Amino acid sequence: MDVFVIEGGRKLSGSLRVNGSKNAALPLLAATLLTDAPVTLRDVPELSDIFNMLRLLGELGVENERDGTTIRLQGVDETEVHARYDIVRTMRASICVLGPMLARRGTARVSMPGGCAIGQRPVDLHLRGLEALGARIELEGGDIVARVPQSGRLIGDTVFLGGPFGSTVLGTANVMSAATLAEGTTVIECAACEPEIVDLADMLISMGARIRGAGSPRITIEGVESLGGTDHTVIPDRIEAGTYMCAAAATGSTIELTNCPLDAMMSPIDRLEAIGVHIDPTDYPRGVAADNPMRRTCTISAPEPLRSVQITTQPHPGFPTDLQAQFMAMLCLAQGNSVITEKIFPERFLHVAELTRMGAQVHRHGTTAVISGVSKLTGAPVMASDLRASAGLVIAAMAAEGTTVVNRVYHIDRGYEKLEERLCSVGASITRMSESELSEQGVNALGG
Ligand code: EPU
Repeated sequence: MDVFVIEGGRKLSGSLRVNGSKNAALPLLAATLLTDAPVTLRDVPELSDIFNMLRLLGELGVENERDGTTIRLQGVDETEVHARYDIVRTMRASICVLGPMLARRGTARVSMPGGCAIGQRPVDLHLRGLEALGARIELEGGDIVARVPQSGRLIGDTVFLGGPFGSTVLGTANVMSAATLAEGTTVIECAACEPEIVDLADMLISMGARIRGAGSPRITIEGVESLGGTDHTVIPDRIEAGTYMCAAAATGSTIELTNCPLDAMMSPIDRLEAIGVHIDPTDYPRGVAADNPMRRTCTISAPEPLRSVQITTQPHPGFPTDLQAQFMAMLCLAQGNSVITEKIFPERFLHVAELTRMGAQVHRHGTTAVISGVSKLTGAPVMASDLRASAGLVIAAMAAEGTTVVNRVYHIDRGYEKLEERLCSVGASITRMSESELSEQGVNALGG
């Protein structure tokens, strides 16, 4: 297993291009199961989650040719319908193949995803949505087995996708994708409004689907007989962009971001501005509409000291849960008490204990954490627990005094392409090494 050895206290400067979005790319890749025509996807980030999805699609008869971040996919064999536990357990997002495979092949067997470090993560809303379209669903040997009705096709209907924590992003992706090939009209009420859903709808429309309202809580899909191929570029990753913004703010630096999806980041930008961080678009003068508001160039600058704020995670366009840990890491160094309330994944606080090891003052009460700003964090060995918690630890380490060793960085590789290389290119000091290389270097790497 690899670790990151991070020397803190370096200022950042320079420019970073935001990569294509992981959470957009995964359901887009799964949607290639809806057609046997070729689909080209561009700006797909090179991440372990993406490679796992390509492996799963390969097992399901969708071949791919990859040239860097461009992937050409084509379904060549539609007989296999089983997404096996071996792959699904490595990546929960494998559930995205359920809707497309059911709609196109008439049957889908997908291993039931388990919980993960950020909580229980049920899929009841996905199943309720597909059942509303006439699917017959059973649980067999730990697998979800879904079959279309006797007529051979799903049947459009009104589907309500609200649950105790709001809508479901991948559930909306599953039901919307499946409904493109259903007979008649489907209306999804309480649909997820995330930009990744809009990107999926855009790609499906370019394949011939009839979808209205994506990005709003009501999506209407008129089913068609079949879908064709397309050539689609994935939207930039708003969570990666937000992570870089927090890294700049926590280290009191100024950096430029290009290909930045500012249009999808209103809530994190609002909180950053309240903290005292400046986000200045530099590509168009103020008051002039950008050609593509999802691909902007902007400068992030952070005069010290940072101010404390209150943050509540919510479904889009509210504050994204996927930036909660990174903001918490930054707020450890803000003046005063900040309050973060987690309303999407109530258990998503595994980073709190690790931040505390670096000198942070964080007190968690249920779904709320109170962060009392300290004047400095100090390097320490810490453990990455999930993707975004790990990103938070990297930010804290970059802002801390001394050396931090972040263990288990495979979590980071799931969702950030070459994070250490990219942050080093703007002045951070992060070295990837194996655990054995680390022990050869001994106590020095641990700051002892
Ligand atoms: N939920 C249910 N029933 C369901 C589905 C969800 O109760 O059937 C609950 C969940 O337990 C949670 C809430 O609804 O409390 C929202 O979950 P959602 O289904 O929206 O999450 P997801 O679609 O499985 C995606 C992202 C996550 C991100 C969430 C929320 C991908 C691949 N994953 O997950 O991203 O946190 O939406 O925005 O798109 C990450 O990238 O680190 C990550 C975890």
